[in-house]
Amino acid sequence: MAKTAPKPDRKYSDRTPREERLAREARSEKKYSDVKSNPRAKINPDGTKTYDQSTFFASCPREVEHLLEKEIRDLGITRIEVEKGGVAFKCETEEALDVLLNSRVASRVFKEIQVYTITSEKDIYTMAKEKWWDKIFEVHQTFKINTLFDRETKEHFSNSIIFSQLLKDAIADNFREKFGERPSVDTGRPDITFLLRVERKPGSDLFNARILVDMCGEPLSNRGYREESLKAPLRENLAAAIIMTTDFDPSVDLFTDTMCGSGTLLIEAILIRAKVAPTYLKIRQYIEKKVPVFDFLKHPWFIVDRKSVRLFEEKAQAVYNHSLTALNELQTRQFFGFDLTERALETTRAHLYNAHIDPQIVTLNKRDATKITPMDEPPGIVICNPPYGERMGEEEELKNLYKDYGENLKHNFKGFRAYVFTSNPLLRKHISLGTSKRFTFYNGSLECRLLKYDLY
Ligand SMILES: C[S@@+](CC[C@H](N)C(=O)[O-])C[C@H]1O[C@@H](n2cnc3c(N)ncnc32)[C@H](O)[C@@H]1O
Repeated sequence: MAKTAPKPDRKYSDRTPREERLAREARSEKKYSDVKSNPRAKINPDGTKTYDQSTFFASCPREVEHLLEKEIRDLGITRIEVEKGGVAFKCETEEALDVLLNSRVASRVFKEIQVYTITSEKDIYTMAKEKWWDKIFEVHQTFKINTLFDRETKEHFSNSIIFSQLLKDAIADNFREKFGERPSVDTGRPDITFLLRVERKPGSDLFNARILVDMCGEPLSNRGYREESLKAPLRENLAAAIIMTTDFDPSVDLFTDTMCGSGTLLIEAILIRAKVAPTYLKIRQYIEKKVPVFDFLKHPWFIVDRKSVRLFEEKAQAVYNHSLTALNELQTRQFFGFDLTERALETTRAHLYNAHIDPQIVTLNKRDATKITPMDEPPGIVICNPPYGERMGEEEELKNLYKDYGENLKHNFKGFRAYVFTSNPLLRKHISLGTSKRFTFYNGSLECRLLKYDLY
């Protein structure tokens, strides 16, 4: 039985009268945006719970939010709010599972479990201490808290670590009072990770503190086919976003990666062509080896919701069955990969194998991209992510590579659409072709461009 709420610790309630007033106003604040509001659970006669639609947040690399929004909309979810670095959406848990299983560009999916209106750091402790944390995770499970500020919050509060510490204390004290023991913190690979997002409410002294649970654990960008890391591989969800930004038409186009490295662009293009969910390797682990591949599969908040658990099993089985048939039946000769080094080609082969993709459908050759010619007639796209002097190769040496590559495209790839993904503004100027489109991306903190060249 839940104990009567204890009085807030004195240590955390030394507010000025103005802070007290603002906190009172904050507590009585009822207005939430349509997308970001608190979930409410109704207990059905059979003991199951029906939740009003909950709020979720899918994160993604900066500048690809519009692709993520489209993916979410295409799954039938309509209550969507695009933010920097992700998309908030309101839906049933089972619809959020569709996002988690099928989004190619999302990095993680979070479920919002609480929103507090606060005026100071201390409010986090006072408010969070009253929450039913044992409904979210168990005392023997480990946890971790990451705090994120928006720009205005950064200007107001000195550091985010204090927020993480106060929330950690609130959770630990709440468990200790109920069970006499507290869960441990694990900053490496915890059972549950909370994201505390603190944002200023427009035009006021109040802040929203949103507590979200990371449903994924391992990021969705780690598809599970990558083992060796060559230098500078693209993250899988960024590679998918790049392909989704091009006009690649899988039903007619050849797909050539002229500097394939570890094969990320090729593999993501093949998964798009086969319409295989990007989580299929994780789902195989889950179904074949019973590995809890997503963190939410271990969390009480999800496990008690029997309807969502059943629907997840069905969705996982559907992803599994489709991935087996779609990849087995995929017969195409449209994918080509080149690289200068044998090591890169070996890595691509290993990754294709791990991804259960038939090596027959990809033609791999050790060639110099500045000298290659097309393997077949257009239409098709010719894409590459050349070294850009940031992490591999020196800028000086690379100028000729960009220049010669541009010349080769100009002379030998007429009728194709070419794309170059690079972060180096100086190097890309050495390609003496006019760009027909430019798209901005971020590879981690590196600002990059995807440049399109129409070759006539
Ligand atoms: C940035 S890495 C590509 C990474 C790749 N997109 C991935 O995700 O693994 C650049 C690749 O270009 C290759 N490369 C450099 N010069 C080349 C050339 N002239 N012809 C073909 N490949 C080249 C390098 O060997 C390297 O594997």
